[in-house]
Amino acid sequence: MTSPLRAQPARPGWQLCPYEADRHAAQHREVIAAIFSCELEEADRWVGVAGAEKIRVLEQDGEYAATAVLMPMAQFHGGRSVRTRGVAGVGVRPEYRRDGVGSLLMAEILREVEAQGEALSILYASTTKFYRGLGYEIAGTHYAARLETSYLPPVRTELEIRALTEDDRPAMQEIVRANGRVMPGHMDRCDYLWPRLLRPRGKPAQAFGVFDDAGKLRGFLAFTLASSEALDDFQAMELRVFEAADAEGLRGLMALLRSHHSMVREISTTLPPQSPFWSWLPEQRARMKMREQFLIRLVRVGDALAQRGYPVGVSGELLLEVEDPVLPDNHGLWHLRVRDGRGSAVRVADPDQASEDRVRLDAGALAALYSGHQSAENLAILDRAQGSPEALARASGLFVGRAPTCPEMF
Ligand SMILES: CC(C)(COP(=O)(O)OP(=O)(O)OC[C@H]1O[C@@H](n2cnc3c(N)ncnc32)[C@H](O)[C@@H]1OP(=O)(O)O)[C@@H](O)C(=O)NCCC(=O)NCCS
Repeated sequence: MTSPLRAQPARPGWQLCPYEADRHAAQHREVIAAIFSCELEEADRWVGVAGAEKIRVLEQDGEYAATAVLMPMAQFHGGRSVRTRGVAGVGVRPEYRRDGVGSLLMAEILREVEAQGEALSILYASTTKFYRGLGYEIAGTHYAARLETSYLPPVRTELEIRALTEDDRPAMQEIVRANGRVMPGHMDRCDYLWPRLLRPRGKPAQAFGVFDDAGKLRGFLAFTLASSEALDDFQAMELRVFEAADAEGLRGLMALLRSHHSMVREISTTLPPQSPFWSWLPEQRARMKMREQFLIRLVRVGDALAQRGYPVGVSGELLLEVEDPVLPDNHGLWHLRVRDGRGSAVRVADPDQASEDRVRLDAGALAALYSGHQSAENLAILDRAQGSPEALARASGLFVGRAPTCPEMF
């Protein structure tokens, strides 16, 4: 078995601390401007959008070396919403790169997240190899698709269409939660994500709901419009949110979209292939690509295994021998029990006395198995897991589900 994880050597003198505008602002704006190739003023605005309290800085003797942002989020796994810590805006000043500083930054961040009791972490990676060495692994896919509006069939709805207000937020959240239970990898929208979806780049998106006679929200969507030279100055729609609660809601949303087709010639969206949006269309006319894959990491193995859901009607037990040189509290043998859609995991006190019928895998391989992105058998082909054919099949069966996808990018 070949593990890509690297043990992180102790590096005295380095410290992870909260961002302080007085001390860090000047260097921080330069690093952010360089990483995201933006103007310094835009980098300052970025601090406001991210939230200064979420920014961390790694320094040595007061000298700024690297930074990252930590975002409180939640993601659906196996039908349950699991709190996770999103990581973004990771940057090491060029003069410190390829000397283990980025790894130290991420290891310190993982220790902070672990100490705060969070079970998972999630990120999109500019380089998978770097994060893989820290125990993150590809766990699902972010798609991007384009559809000509002329392929939307004409359809009528009896539902009332009206613009959404802040008061509609609980009803929107309810639909997101219900849909997320059957869409592994989707984010459980939180205070951090809603503004990003509904106010992209600081400007409000158009957000509409479809309501029945009783005033109940049956579906909602949000989009931005921009005229496009490539479309002969007709408009392109970026469909940012599309959530239907039921068949009538789906029909209502389609009617609302179709009503835009005189001016809007093309819709772009990150809705994944499993979305009802695509299966409702009479023909397959979208051009879809895998834009990126998201990575997750199990920060606290026991909690992560207990907090996700499992297939209803599936029961079983599994010994997981986890290799984790970065977060040693995860390292060792775990006993997972699954029953009635719920799981619990305890550390095995005396691994030598336990059965040899177990799956051995590194922390990253466990992340891929956990999300349902990879089967245990495929992880064995990748030389990231080992076990008897029966143990591997049992592991795959306990974590099986629809392919995980995530429409949001952060
Ligand atoms: C990516 C980045 C954070 C890595 O920081 P770093 O301090 O250079 O990383 P480390 O020295 O700890 O690297 C550890 C290992 O990760 C891998 N790695 C690091 N940078 C990599 C890169 N750009 N491409 C591929 N692998 C990389 C290597 O295996 C490296 O080990 P090696 O140097 O022995 O080969 C840093 O290069 C950076 O800030 N880049 C620009 C901004 C960016 O891409 N941020 C990430 C946004 S998600």
